[in-house]
Amino acid sequence: MQLSQRVLNSQFSPIRKLVPYAEAAKKSGKKVYHLNIGQPDVETPKAFFEGIKKYSTNIVYYSHSAGLYELREAFSKYYKSWNINFDAEDLIITTGGSEAVIFSLATVAVPGDEVMVIEPFYANYKGFAEMLNVKLRPVKSSPKNGYAVPEREAFEKAYNEKVKAIIFSNPSNPTGAVYTYDELKRIVDFAKEKDIFVMSDEVYKEFTFDGKKHISIMNFEDQERFILLDSISKRYSACGARIGVLATKNKKILEQVMKFAQSRLSPPLMAQFGTLGLLKDLEEDYFEKMVLEYQQRRDAAFDELSKIEGAVFQKPHGSFYISVELPVDSSEEFVKWMLTDFDIDGETVMVSPLNGFYATPGAGKSEIRIAYVLNNQELRKACSILKEGVYAYNQKRK
Ligand SMILES: Cc1ncc(COP(=O)(O)O)c(C=O)c1O
Repeated sequence: MQLSQRVLNSQFSPIRKLVPYAEAAKKSGKKVYHLNIGQPDVETPKAFFEGIKKYSTNIVYYSHSAGLYELREAFSKYYKSWNINFDAEDLIITTGGSEAVIFSLATVAVPGDEVMVIEPFYANYKGFAEMLNVKLRPVKSSPKNGYAVPEREAFEKAYNEKVKAIIFSNPSNPTGAVYTYDELKRIVDFAKEKDIFVMSDEVYKEFTFDGKKHISIMNFEDQERFILLDSISKRYSACGARIGVLATKNKKILEQVMKFAQSRLSPPLMAQFGTLGLLKDLEEDYFEKMVLEYQQRRDAAFDELSKIEGAVFQKPHGSFYISVELPVDSSEEFVKWMLTDFDIDGETVMVSPLNGFYATPGAGKSEIRIAYVLNNQELRKACSILKEGVYAYNQKRK
């Protein structure tokens, strides 16, 4: 018996693959600050749990494959509050944003096709593309200018006839970049010229700081070209609920995606009730408080990281990640070493090496991603341990 080349050629999640080192560090008695994974530490709003009670029935049935109509209506209202004109019929509720990514990739590309991606990118895009035998074609952004959308020439250079779509997240995981109108326009114009789809992953839409407001792809013309990918995981600190959305004005896409949605029968029912609770009964100031909290954390992390001599990065304006180029030869080796060989008073820190967030071989080799999902005090402590770690690691190598 043989396993498929498809699975053998796929990669483990770069965020999770160093976890055994963290487990060993903890077993040996060290405290590990986890800045490696985007699991927020804030409580899921009560409205989620109340929604489960309020809207559920005594049978856990399959919902419509596109999700409960009432939930799609509630999402439509939510999008309209963002000036995004989606009706309930334009939406399919998915099992997490992850399924929305898989469904849309599978709908626009066949094995051998290619999809352009702004790198560094959300690492699981690569896993999903591998699952579908679709190749990612990277367009590289740089820490030097805050990982802004690359210039048009870079898109031109990466493009070939096999490319069927472009995918990116905005605000970005892993960089925290929030794309401006002009940057998005560059993507939209390019896609139009090449006649390819645009898949815009907007799961961090609310998380923007310094007065910057997220601009949706749906605020541009040429809407049939766009697929919006969404999720409640981060927005409401509800990662385990597994509720996402695939939304588009393109009826042909919706009709075809329904084939996949029907094969997996139904998105999770109880979590759909919880999401109804979130969309209908959330406290009014929830996002204001959340955004303030994350902005303060961003500031704390930025302050501490600025003390690392030789680190290259700019203050990000969104999501809850910062990507940083460190003065180390290999960030993967450095992250491992922090877990196996370094601590300050029995404490160390785990971050994500950024190489797994790139499709270009060798890229991101000195970069890391920090998820600021700890409270301010712990975050400052963790970043200062990181700073000491960088210094000690380089001293050791001299
Ligand atoms: C940019 C981005 N898209 C999609 C997802 C997947 O979200 P979900 O938990 O809804 O599957 C994540 C999760 O980290 C993400 O960061």
